[in-house]
Amino acid sequence: MTRLAGVIGYPVAHSLSPAFQTAAFRASGLDVRYELWETAPESLAGRIVSLRDPKYLGANVTIPHKQAVIPLLDELGGQSSRVGAVNTIVNRSGRLFGFNTDGQGFVLAMRNEAHADPSDRSILLLGAGGAARGIAFALAEAKAGRIGIWNRTSARAERLAADVAGAGALATPVPALSDLSPYDVIVNCTSVGMEGSGTESSAPCDISTARPGTLIADIVYAPAETSLLRQAREAGLPVLPGLPMLIYQGALSFELWTGVPAPVEVMFEAARKALAERHAGGAAR
Ligand code: ATR
Repeated sequence: MTRLAGVIGYPVAHSLSPAFQTAAFRASGLDVRYELWETAPESLAGRIVSLRDPKYLGANVTIPHKQAVIPLLDELGGQSSRVGAVNTIVNRSGRLFGFNTDGQGFVLAMRNEAHADPSDRSILLLGAGGAARGIAFALAEAKAGRIGIWNRTSARAERLAADVAGAGALATPVPALSDLSPYDVIVNCTSVGMEGSGTESSAPCDISTARPGTLIADIVYAPAETSLLRQAREAGLPVLPGLPMLIYQGALSFELWTGVPAPVEVMFEAARKALAERHAGGAAR
Protein backbone atom coordinates (compact mmCIF):
# COMPACT_ATOMS: atom_id res chain seq x y z
CA MET A 1 0.00 0.00 0.00
CA THR A 2 1.31 3.45 -0.93
CA ARG A 3 1.33 5.54 2.22
CA LEU A 4 0.80 9.27 2.31
CA ALA A 5 2.37 12.26 4.00
CA GLY A 6 2.03 15.94 3.21
CA VAL A 7 2.35 19.51 4.30
CA ILE A 8 -0.62 21.34 5.81
CA GLY A 9 -0.58 25.12 5.39
CA TYR A 10 -2.49 28.06 3.94
CA PRO A 11 -1.22 28.99 1.44
CA VAL A 12 1.24 26.16 0.87
CA ALA A 13 2.00 26.13 -2.87
CA HIS A 14 5.44 27.69 -2.30
CA SER A 15 6.59 24.88 0.04
CA LEU A 16 9.83 23.11 -0.86
CA SER A 17 8.95 20.11 1.33
CA PRO A 18 7.30 18.06 -1.46
CA ALA A 19 10.48 18.33 -3.56
CA PHE A 20 12.93 17.18 -0.91
CA GLN A 21 10.70 14.76 1.00
CA THR A 22 9.71 12.99 -2.25
CA ALA A 23 13.39 12.66 -3.15
CA ALA A 24 14.12 11.28 0.34
CA PHE A 25 11.36 8.63 0.20
CA ARG A 26 12.48 7.57 -3.28
CA ALA A 27 16.17 7.36 -2.33
CA SER A 28 15.23 5.27 0.73
CA GLY A 29 13.10 2.87 -1.34
CA LEU A 30 9.93 3.75 0.61
CA ASP A 31 6.52 3.70 -1.08
CA VAL A 32 5.30 7.05 0.23
CA ARG A 33 3.67 9.90 -1.66
CA TYR A 34 4.21 13.40 -0.19
CA GLU A 35 1.47 15.89 -1.08
CA LEU A 36 0.58 19.58 -0.71
CA TRP A 37 -2.45 19.85 1.56
CA GLU A 38 -3.63 23.43 1.33
CA THR A 39 -6.03 23.75 4.25
CA ALA A 40 -8.08 26.82 5.20
CA PRO A 41 -8.46 27.38 8.96
CA GLU A 42 -12.09 26.19 8.94
CA SER A 43 -11.00 22.87 7.36
CA LEU A 44 -8.10 22.19 9.72
CA ALA A 45 -9.96 19.97 12.21
CA GLY A 46 -11.29 17.73 9.42
CA ARG A 47 -7.85 17.48 7.83
CA ILE A 48 -6.27 16.40 11.11
CA VAL A 49 -8.97 13.77 11.81
CA SER A 50 -8.31 12.25 8.36
CA LEU A 51 -4.65 11.62 9.33
CA ARG A 52 -5.76 8.85 11.74
CA ASP A 53 -6.39 6.54 8.77
CA PRO A 54 -3.65 3.86 8.48
CA LYS A 55 -2.68 5.06 5.02
CA TYR A 56 -1.26 8.28 6.49
CA LEU A 57 2.26 8.34 7.94
CA GLY A 58 1.71 11.88 9.19
CA ALA A 59 2.20 15.45 8.11
CA ASN A 60 4.22 18.60 8.31
CA VAL A 61 2.43 21.70 9.53
CA THR A 62 3.31 25.21 8.48
CA ILE A 63 1.98 28.77 8.63
CA PRO A 64 -0.64 29.57 9.90
CA HIS A 65 -1.52 26.28 11.64
CA LYS A 66 1.47 25.44 13.89
CA GLN A 67 -0.32 26.53 17.08
CA ALA A 68 -3.89 25.73 16.06
CA VAL A 69 -3.20 22.00 15.52
CA ILE A 70 -2.14 21.42 19.12
CA PRO A 71 -5.60 20.82 20.65
CA LEU A 72 -6.44 18.46 17.76
CA LEU A 73 -3.61 16.02 18.63
CA ASP A 74 -3.45 13.20 21.22
CA GLU A 75 0.07 13.72 22.56
CA LEU A 76 2.91 16.20 22.30
CA GLY A 77 6.52 15.01 22.12
CA GLY A 78 9.93 16.63 22.47
CA GLN A 79 9.86 20.35 23.18
CA SER A 80 6.66 21.05 21.23
CA SER A 81 4.48 21.87 24.23
CA ARG A 82 7.08 24.28 25.63
CA VAL A 83 7.54 25.88 22.23
CA GLY A 84 3.77 26.02 21.76
CA ALA A 85 3.98 24.98 18.13
CA VAL A 86 3.96 21.74 16.14
CA ASN A 87 5.52 21.28 12.71
CA THR A 88 5.39 17.47 12.51
CA ILE A 89 2.49 15.07 13.13
CA VAL A 90 3.07 11.32 13.32
CA ASN A 91 0.21 8.81 12.99
CA ARG A 92 0.95 5.88 15.32
CA SER A 93 -1.89 3.35 14.97
CA GLY A 94 -4.51 6.06 14.79
CA ARG A 95 -3.08 8.20 17.59
CA LEU A 96 -1.63 11.54 16.52
CA PHE A 97 1.65 12.72 18.07
CA GLY A 98 2.90 16.29 17.61
CA PHE A 99 6.56 17.31 17.50
CA ASN A 100 8.50 20.45 16.72
CA THR A 101 11.69 19.81 14.73
CA ASP A 102 12.39 23.44 13.73
CA GLY A 103 14.74 24.28 16.58
CA GLN A 104 16.57 20.98 16.53
CA GLY A 105 16.85 21.41 12.76
CA PHE A 106 18.67 24.67 13.39
CA VAL A 107 21.00 23.07 15.94
CA LEU A 108 21.84 20.25 13.50
CA ALA A 109 22.46 22.80 10.74
CA MET A 110 24.80 24.69 13.08
CA ARG A 111 26.71 21.54 14.00
CA ASN A 112 26.84 19.84 10.61
CA GLU A 113 27.07 22.78 8.20
CA ALA A 114 28.73 25.55 10.24
CA HIS A 115 30.76 23.10 12.39
CA ALA A 116 29.81 25.07 15.50
CA ASP A 117 28.38 23.50 18.66
CA PRO A 118 25.99 25.70 20.69
CA SER A 119 27.27 24.43 24.03
CA ASP A 120 28.74 27.20 26.20
CA ARG A 121 28.32 29.74 23.38
CA SER A 122 26.83 33.17 23.80
CA ILE A 123 24.03 33.38 21.23
CA LEU A 124 21.89 36.34 20.18
CA LEU A 125 18.49 35.67 18.64
CA LEU A 126 16.87 38.40 16.57
CA GLY A 127 13.09 37.85 16.75
CA ALA A 128 10.70 36.30 19.24
CA GLY A 129 8.05 34.72 17.00
CA GLY A 130 7.37 31.03 16.46
CA ALA A 131 10.69 30.30 14.74
CA ALA A 132 12.68 32.06 17.46
CA ARG A 133 10.80 30.14 20.19
CA GLY A 134 11.67 26.79 18.61
CA ILE A 135 15.32 27.74 18.20
CA ALA A 136 15.61 29.21 21.71
CA PHE A 137 14.37 26.03 23.42
CA ALA A 138 16.54 23.81 21.20
CA LEU A 139 19.61 25.95 22.02
CA ALA A 140 18.75 25.70 25.70
CA GLU A 141 18.55 21.90 25.36
CA ALA A 142 21.91 21.94 23.53
CA LYS A 143 23.39 23.71 26.59
CA ALA A 144 24.01 27.12 25.06
CA GLY A 145 25.97 29.22 27.56
CA ARG A 146 23.84 32.34 27.26
CA ILE A 147 20.89 33.23 25.05
CA GLY A 148 20.11 36.90 24.39
CA ILE A 149 16.80 37.72 22.72
CA TRP A 150 16.09 40.95 20.86
CA ASN A 151 12.77 41.67 19.20
CA ARG A 152 11.22 44.71 17.49
CA THR A 153 8.35 44.39 19.99
CA SER A 154 10.35 44.13 23.21
CA ALA A 155 7.56 42.62 25.33
CA ARG A 156 7.71 39.45 23.21
CA ALA A 157 11.49 39.18 23.75
CA GLU A 158 10.98 39.55 27.51
CA ARG A 159 8.35 36.83 27.54
CA LEU A 160 10.43 34.38 25.48
CA ALA A 161 13.51 35.04 27.62
CA ALA A 162 11.47 34.36 30.77
CA ASP A 163 10.06 31.12 29.28
CA VAL A 164 13.51 29.87 28.25
CA ALA A 165 15.00 30.86 31.61
CA GLY A 166 12.16 28.86 33.18
CA ALA A 167 13.46 25.84 31.25
CA GLY A 168 16.79 26.22 33.04
CA ALA A 169 18.88 28.25 30.54
CA LEU A 170 20.57 31.59 31.06
CA ALA A 171 18.34 33.72 28.83
CA THR A 172 17.90 37.48 28.91
CA PRO A 173 16.07 40.05 26.80
CA VAL A 174 18.37 42.36 24.84
CA PRO A 175 16.96 45.89 24.54
CA ALA A 176 19.35 47.29 21.91
CA LEU A 177 21.69 46.04 19.20
CA SER A 178 24.36 48.71 19.56
CA ASP A 179 27.13 46.33 20.71
CA LEU A 180 27.26 42.84 19.24
CA SER A 181 30.76 42.06 20.48
CA PRO A 182 29.64 39.78 23.37
CA TYR A 183 28.16 37.17 21.01
CA ASP A 184 29.69 34.08 19.39
CA VAL A 185 26.62 33.48 17.22
CA ILE A 186 23.89 35.80 15.92
CA VAL A 187 20.75 34.27 14.41
CA ASN A 188 18.16 36.16 12.38
CA CYS A 189 14.80 34.57 13.28
CA THR A 190 12.74 37.46 11.88
CA SER A 191 11.27 37.64 8.40
CA VAL A 192 13.47 40.64 7.55
CA GLY A 193 15.24 40.00 4.24
CA MET A 194 12.78 37.36 3.04
CA GLU A 195 11.72 37.31 -0.60
CA GLY A 196 8.24 38.81 -0.96
CA SER A 197 8.28 40.44 2.49
CA GLY A 198 9.03 43.94 1.21
CA THR A 199 12.21 43.95 3.34
CA GLU A 200 14.50 42.19 0.82
CA SER A 201 17.10 44.95 0.87
CA SER A 202 17.10 45.31 4.69
CA ALA A 203 19.00 43.55 7.44
CA PRO A 204 17.58 43.17 10.97
CA CYS A 205 20.74 44.72 12.48
CA ASP A 206 24.05 46.33 11.66
CA ILE A 207 26.74 43.73 12.26
CA SER A 208 29.70 46.11 12.18
CA THR A 209 30.19 45.75 15.97
CA ALA A 210 30.32 41.93 15.86
CA ARG A 211 33.76 40.62 16.69
CA PRO A 212 35.85 38.61 14.22
CA GLY A 213 34.77 34.98 14.05
CA THR A 214 31.14 35.59 15.10
CA LEU A 215 28.89 33.16 13.21
CA ILE A 216 26.05 34.98 11.44
CA ALA A 217 23.07 32.69 10.76
CA ASP A 218 19.85 33.49 8.93
CA ILE A 219 16.78 31.26 8.92
CA VAL A 220 15.54 32.96 5.73
CA TYR A 221 16.37 30.61 2.82
CA ALA A 222 15.02 32.67 -0.09
CA PRO A 223 17.02 34.54 -1.21
CA ALA A 224 19.93 32.17 -0.53
CA GLU A 225 22.02 35.19 0.50
CA THR A 226 20.06 37.80 2.47
CA SER A 227 21.32 41.31 3.00
CA LEU A 228 22.47 40.27 6.48
CA LEU A 229 24.50 37.35 5.12
CA ARG A 230 26.00 39.49 2.38
CA GLN A 231 27.15 42.05 4.95
CA ALA A 232 28.61 39.25 7.06
CA ARG A 233 30.43 37.69 4.11
CA GLU A 234 31.84 41.07 3.10
CA ALA A 235 33.02 41.60 6.68
CA GLY A 236 34.79 38.22 6.58
CA LEU A 237 32.50 36.59 9.17
CA PRO A 238 31.44 32.93 8.93
CA VAL A 239 27.82 32.50 7.76
CA LEU A 240 25.07 29.88 8.01
CA PRO A 241 22.27 30.35 5.46
CA GLY A 242 18.66 29.26 5.98
CA LEU A 243 18.45 26.23 3.69
CA PRO A 244 20.25 23.80 6.06
CA MET A 245 17.74 24.45 8.85
CA LEU A 246 14.87 23.76 6.42
CA ILE A 247 16.51 20.50 5.32
CA TYR A 248 17.36 19.29 8.83
CA GLN A 249 13.89 20.04 10.23
CA GLY A 250 12.53 17.97 7.33
CA ALA A 251 15.12 15.23 7.89
CA LEU A 252 14.00 14.97 11.53
CA SER A 253 10.34 14.76 10.41
CA PHE A 254 11.29 12.02 7.92
CA GLU A 255 13.00 10.04 10.69
CA LEU A 256 10.01 10.41 13.02
CA TRP A 257 7.68 9.05 10.31
CA THR A 258 9.88 6.24 9.01
CA GLY A 259 12.39 5.31 11.71
CA VAL A 260 15.16 5.29 9.11
CA PRO A 261 18.03 7.79 8.75
CA ALA A 262 17.18 10.63 6.36
CA PRO A 263 19.29 10.89 3.18
CA VAL A 264 20.27 14.47 3.92
CA GLU A 265 22.48 15.00 0.85
CA VAL A 266 19.68 13.86 -1.47
CA MET A 267 17.33 16.29 0.28
CA PHE A 268 19.75 19.21 -0.13
CA GLU A 269 20.18 18.44 -3.81
CA ALA A 270 16.42 18.22 -4.45
CA ALA A 271 15.73 21.47 -2.56
CA ARG A 272 18.46 23.35 -4.45
CA LYS A 273 17.11 22.06 -7.75
CA ALA A 274 13.53 23.11 -6.83
CA LEU A 275 14.75 26.59 -5.82
CA ALA A 276 16.71 26.96 -9.07
CA GLU A 277 13.65 25.88 -11.10
CA ARG A 278 11.47 28.31 -9.19
CA HIS A 279 13.85 31.15 -10.01
CA ALA A 280 14.10 30.16 -13.65
CA GLY A 281 10.27 30.12 -13.80
CA GLY A 282 10.11 33.49 -12.06
CA ALA A 283 12.58 35.00 -14.52
CA ALA A 284 10.57 33.71 -17.48
CA ARG A 285 7.32 35.29 -16.27
P1 ATR B 1 7.62 32.98 12.62
O1 ATR B 1 6.74 31.85 13.03
O2 ATR B 1 8.19 32.82 11.23
O3 ATR B 1 8.68 33.29 13.63
P2 ATR B 1 6.08 35.21 13.55
O4 ATR B 1 5.70 34.46 14.76
O5 ATR B 1 5.05 36.01 12.82
O6 ATR B 1 6.67 34.24 12.44
O7 ATR B 1 7.34 36.14 13.92
C1 ATR B 1 7.89 37.04 13.01
C2 ATR B 1 9.11 37.68 13.66
O8 ATR B 1 9.70 38.61 12.72
C3 ATR B 1 8.79 38.50 14.91
O9 ATR B 1 9.89 38.47 15.77
C4 ATR B 1 8.57 39.90 14.30
O10 ATR B 1 8.74 40.94 15.22
P3 ATR B 1 7.47 41.51 16.08
O11 ATR B 1 7.25 40.52 17.19
O12 ATR B 1 7.91 42.84 16.56
O13 ATR B 1 6.31 41.57 15.11
C5 ATR B 1 9.70 39.91 13.30
N1 ATR B 1 9.54 40.92 12.25
C6 ATR B 1 8.69 40.88 11.19
N2 ATR B 1 8.85 41.96 10.42
C7 ATR B 1 9.83 42.71 11.00
C8 ATR B 1 10.48 43.97 10.67
N3 ATR B 1 10.13 44.65 9.59
N4 ATR B 1 11.48 44.39 11.49
C9 ATR B 1 11.83 43.69 12.60
N5 ATR B 1 11.27 42.52 12.95
C10 ATR B 1 10.28 42.04 12.17
